[in-house]
Amino acid sequence: MNELEEIKNKIDIVEDVGKYVQLKQSGRNFKGLCPFHSEKTPSFMVSPEKQIWHCFGCNEGGDIISFTEKIEGLSFPDTIKELASRTGVKLSQNFKGRKEPTDSVFAINELACLHFEKLLKESEGKRAYEYLKKRGLTDKTMAEFRLGFSPVRGDILTQELATLGFAKSDLAKAGVSNSNDNRFYDQFRGRLMFPIANVQGKVIGFSARVLDDSLPKYINTPETPIYHKSNILFGMDKAKEQARKQDHLILVEGNMDMIFSYQAGVKNVVASSGTALTEAQLDLIKRFTKNIKIAFDVDMAGQNATKRAIELAQDKGFNIKVIEVPEGKDPADLVRNDPKKWINACKKAKYVVDYTFDSTFSHYDITNILDKKRATKELLATISRLPDPVEKEHYLQILAQQIGVSLQALVEALHKFKSAKGNQTKATQKPKAVIEETKTKTTLEERIFSLLLVSPQYSDFFFNKINPEDFENDKLIRFVAELYDLNEQGEVDIKKWLKKQKPEDRDYINKLTFEIEDEFPEANEEIMGEELFNGVLRLRQEGYEAAKKKLNRKIYEAEKEENAKLVKDLMAELQFLIEKERNI
Ligand code: CTP
Ligand code: MN
Repeated sequence: MNELEEIKNKIDIVEDVGKYVQLKQSGRNFKGLCPFHSEKTPSFMVSPEKQIWHCFGCNEGGDIISFTEKIEGLSFPDTIKELASRTGVKLSQNFKGRKEPTDSVFAINELACLHFEKLLKESEGKRAYEYLKKRGLTDKTMAEFRLGFSPVRGDILTQELATLGFAKSDLAKAGVSNSNDNRFYDQFRGRLMFPIANVQGKVIGFSARVLDDSLPKYINTPETPIYHKSNILFGMDKAKEQARKQDHLILVEGNMDMIFSYQAGVKNVVASSGTALTEAQLDLIKRFTKNIKIAFDVDMAGQNATKRAIELAQDKGFNIKVIEVPEGKDPADLVRNDPKKWINACKKAKYVVDYTFDSTFSHYDITNILDKKRATKELLATISRLPDPVEKEHYLQILAQQIGVSLQALVEALHKFKSAKGNQTKATQKPKAVIEETKTKTTLEERIFSLLLVSPQYSDFFFNKINPEDFENDKLIRFVAELYDLNEQGEVDIKKWLKKQKPEDRDYINKLTFEIEDEFPEANEEIMGEELFNGVLRLRQEGYEAAKKKLNRKIYEAEKEENAKLVKDLMAELQFLIEKERNI
């Protein structure tokens, strides 16, 4: 048995998923509200027998590994590590693979964090502690975010960690030390320390702020094997649960903004840490929610960042709102002033298009023709990105009114704009992510096939009546052919057969069986047998109907060409078909 199976054997999927989702028994399966999309009627199912899950709303499913991956927002290797430690399964060196060398990098960062935390409480860190107090952070928040202070003197941390047995080169690799002519010294000195955690809450680096007005204001951990600035959102480990529950995430610029918002009770918040939002960051967010509210600063840099973030997020299929923060302030200021101000600003977030309209019109003086053109161009760009035609028309109308132009003229401008833009960006544009909200309809042949899977005792009847060629769907043809062969050899062991399928095929098959099991929660053999019987008849009938239609067309063609011989042969074939159909 390999480690993955060992892990899966030790876990009961119903119990484990039940920690995240309220499950109710329904026939031989369990049902609940899907944790991965918002819904009011349960379409999320878990099978204790098969130890799998499937959601009919988002059309996704899998085993406990994929569930944990998704719900915890972990990578595959991290999921395995997590589940292995939960179940006490020992992973072989081979499995831990290349992850091994980063373990010391994690350890060093954790130890450094402890070191900084401790110092904040000592006399050396008093100035930093007081600074935080003055800005309005509570002791509880400081502890929760594990804020700290780095020693002012040159290489205290480096020495301390070296005596614990870490190689200085590893300290540099982990980003806490720096070397100069082979002399190692601390990377962070005399600064307020904000540990940066990965999604699971492990410290992977630091953001370090000065206590006065000196520059640079922040020094950050350089790129290390575990810290990649462009993939990280400050606070994601703390925000993820609320982001999923409330189904939206608030994006701020500064780490301080994130912390203050959290302290004010708005916990579904992360900071982009001053950088332009990246695709990797958006992909990370997408694991938890598709709805974001952006609250970047109102300065020039902040507004440009907002604009870029909006475009990128729109292309990734996010629903976006913009939180307006008064000029010259940031969320941290609002909270400090009065937490309610921040809470209300979040509540009053503007739909992204309304925001873009307002901000564009406040920037341009549309009594000036050049400005008017620029504003129109910018807004048409926004409108052209809207997926919904009704919404498009709505905003075109508003724009027409605002700038005093006919709707017709704007529609034309939009078309021109689109074709120019289309030519230019087509190659780089990726298809938009669309959530499949609607169930894809199961076909008759899929239904028959799944009925066979849940009641394999009817295999003989099934294969007497039907051939793989009676199916149209390539996948089903292959599945039925494989099962046909197994049936010839004796017993059909569906479980064993299923194990040999490719993961994506298995997902497809699982989905089909879930559907049938949901339809027949009592799993009454007789009724299911009858359904199978009727289904097979209908499928064969439909097959004959289609074949007859084809033949009739051929006969018609042959008659037109006056090909008497062909007509006669085709007629005989038709006769034969009709005969067979009668004997179904
Ligand atoms: N930042 C950085 N390097 C700098 C300046 C800023 O990495 N030299 C990042 C930090 O992550 C910071 C964010 O950009 O949190 C936003 O910058 P700013 O608004 O200047 O800082 P705040 O976090 O708001 O800090 P404060 O309110 O304490 O001034
Ligand atoms: Mn600030």
